Amino acid sequence: MKIKTIEFVGSAVSKSQYPDDGLGQIVFSGRSNVGKSSFINSLLLSKNIARVSQTPGKTRLINFFLINKLFYFVDIPGYGYANVSKAEILRFASMIDEYLKNPLIKMAILLLDIRRVPNEDDLLMYEYFKSLNIKLLIVLTKADKLSNNQRVKQVNMIKNKLFKEDVIIPYSTKSRINHDEIWTYLEKAVGLENED
Ligand code: GTP
Ligand code: MG
Repeated sequence: MKIKTIEFVGSAVSKSQYPDDGLGQIVFSGRSNVGKSSFINSLLLSKNIARVSQTPGKTRLINFFLINKLFYFVDIPGYGYANVSKAEILRFASMIDEYLKNPLIKMAILLLDIRRVPNEDDLLMYEYFKSLNIKLLIVLTKADKLSNNQRVKQVNMIKNKLFKEDVIIPYSTKSRINHDEIWTYLEKAVGLENED
């Protein structure tokens, strides 16, 4: 997809602040430090999103980016932060809970570090998307940190042990491996498979 425009349209903590134009939304989710901001930037060939997503305060909100005026990328807070109070975890959970019931969500991307066995938080998030019947794409980040052999091994391990029926795609912001393939899934999810 050719990226023509990216607009940060705002942050939300509750329903009344979500965009109300009816456009489809793609959600990005993953453990803190998994490479979520880097991945989003790399998909958009842009530094804008990282800048916004790393503004203090905004990382704990739901951030909406309008792409080509056609659909949204939605950056939700990462999970598994160290040093976050129980009260804050509960506040995040209810905010994300409310958001994920939004029927405009067309797909969720769950990011996992290719080098790690998915942990309890990852599995919870995974089950949660499944329980809501949200279409899921699993992206394994930092693929450049492994050799080709190791990469294949990790993909198979994660696929066989954990996510048998799901699409699992390795990615690296360095090599941009599978960039176009991932875009094909995203375009299809928002109903734009024939655009260029
Ligand atoms: P938080 O917002 O802090 O939870 O992190 P995040 O998930 O947005 O991760 P971020 O994009 O900030 O990346 C975390 C670290 O991983 C940074 O040092 C990135 O440069 C690095 N990183 C992300 N993607 C890749 C990748 O594909 N390859 C390599 N080698 N490093 C990566
Ligand atoms: Mg980030």
